[in-house]
Amino acid sequence: QQGHMKLHARSVASSADVPDELFDAVVDELVTSGEIKVWKAAEILEEKRGRSGGQTAAGAAAGKVILLGEHAVVYGKHAVALPIADAVSAEVRSAEQASTVSVPAWNIRDQAVADDASGVGAAVTLILQELGIADSHFAIRLHSSLPRAMGLGSSAAFAVAIVRAFDAELGLGLDNAKINAVAFACEKLAHGTPSGIDNTVATYGEAMLFRRAESLELEKLKLVEPVPLVIACSSQSGLTAEQVAGVRRRRAQSRAQYDAVFEQMDALSLTGAAALARGDYAELGMLMNVCHGLLNAIEVSTPELEAMVSIARSAGAAGAKVTGSGGGGSIVALSPGAVDDVRDALEEAGFLTLGHSKT
Ligand code: PMV
Repeated sequence: QQGHMKLHARSVASSADVPDELFDAVVDELVTSGEIKVWKAAEILEEKRGRSGGQTAAGAAAGKVILLGEHAVVYGKHAVALPIADAVSAEVRSAEQASTVSVPAWNIRDQAVADDASGVGAAVTLILQELGIADSHFAIRLHSSLPRAMGLGSSAAFAVAIVRAFDAELGLGLDNAKINAVAFACEKLAHGTPSGIDNTVATYGEAMLFRRAESLELEKLKLVEPVPLVIACSSQSGLTAEQVAGVRRRRAQSRAQYDAVFEQMDALSLTGAAALARGDYAELGMLMNVCHGLLNAIEVSTPELEAMVSIARSAGAAGAKVTGSGGGGSIVALSPGAVDDVRDALEEAGFLTLGHSKT
């Protein structure tokens, strides 16, 4: 068992691109920590580099899980989201030639930023412009415990972590409002008409009731305890740009019906924010179930997501729904007193789970 864990830790350390000189030390700490995960390896590495006075600057950002109101939020309605704390971190250092980006957990290694017109590279190019440092070259490394394109806010978290790493490296003195604005510009690049919820949760790392109507309105929610959530990934990725465009197209054809759905979602979010703040999970779970029905009505669910929601509810979840843009991606299940049962049931059915939200 011990030998197996060590082997697994070595493979995780290698995915996190731990350099040779720190490899054995990081592997040992990974085994002791009991969290043999890429994000943990990145964290240990960062800590060790910090201690040895390393030359990289680091930034961190939260992922997000939307409990209520996705899609409606694009049309100026309220949504409720929780952070997935410190899900992503970035390191930057000066480079001699062209800027590069690596995401070891996603198997992206030293990719030239200029060659990537649509993904992380494009976001980096925009960030360099926005920060007025487009003439310099940097090597950027991202560590992520978030899977790719699963509706958990990885693109926004990457943008925030990168901006924070530059802020630390270059002493730019950026405040959260500026960091959020740059990450919002990156989100526009990634999917046209974002509401801004992903970058805002990534920046502030707090549970919130969010709305962007004429301006950004956010009410941070004080939680009574960590929320008992299970997040599970389907086998298909969900492309936010495509899903948001699909909803827009269908809304243009059935305007009154779609706007009525968004109005209902707005009400669910307002009621749900209050239920969340008082820890009323029976009420919140019911609201999430209704929200899932509405997301299905606007055609962003899939047969697989429906099956996952059904498995979670049968295993004891008070509420379960698609989270994020749908069309694939993830579900979130509110599971008071049943976190292990719900996680086991989803894993037995072959789905990867992220476990508790670390709020
Ligand atoms: O990018 P995703 O899939 O994590 O979800 C974004 C949430 C949407 O409401 C669908 C889009 C948005 O910009 O708010």
